[in-house]
Amino acid sequence: MTQDELKKAVAKAAVDYIAPRLDSDSIIGIGTGSTANFFIDMLAEQKIEFDGAVASSEATAERLKSHGIPVYDLNSAGDLEFYVDGADETNERLELIKGGGGALTREKIVAEVAKTFICIADDSKMVGVLGKFPLPVEVIPMARSHVGREIVKLGGDPVYREGVVTDNGNIILDVHNMDISRPIQVEERLNNIVGVVTNGLFARRPADLLLLGTKDGVKSIP
Ligand code: 5RP
Repeated sequence: MTQDELKKAVAKAAVDYIAPRLDSDSIIGIGTGSTANFFIDMLAEQKIEFDGAVASSEATAERLKSHGIPVYDLNSAGDLEFYVDGADETNERLELIKGGGGALTREKIVAEVAKTFICIADDSKMVGVLGKFPLPVEVIPMARSHVGREIVKLGGDPVYREGVVTDNGNIILDVHNMDISRPIQVEERLNNIVGVVTNGLFARRPADLLLLGTKDGVKSIP
């Protein structure tokens, strides 16, 4: 199976999981990236009954609207039963690295609010220890050099993501070679650097359910 076929399989599994748990008043959170896009397209194709969605990025909002799915501001959405999103890496504890698409801050906010965070990923994303994928950090532009120096003190090698401005008007530093054997501690230390908006470690609030696409079918973890 190709990686895209695995992504489609987990998107379908997520639709199958949430569809019977939704009704016409339900608003769900939806993430960003190619796997999330397959999920959005399937929600529309299968005409799943729900009210609308909170989007984790402008790109996702546009895709939802292109299917005629209403997009809500998080502040007016009330409870979100589910947040469905992909990941750049996951470990067995469902701690994640996210933000390859630069949407990490809004993703983290929507994941925090949702009751159940369902991560959908192909099995190339499963790792023993997080950190082979460079860890994205969203930074206020004027703090770029300061934050870079502080990250070096923590043992990481920050690389400025050239030409990228986030939906929030900030920049991204991708941190290579960071020891992430203790993900919660690293997440908190990075977030304590003045000028950091947030970082792409989802360890304090990991996923609740991982639907992992493998050549033998979709595995549900836990
Ligand atoms: C975007 C993300 C995505 O979930 C992550 O990059 C995975 O993307 P894809 O589904 O295209 O592999 O965190 O900020």
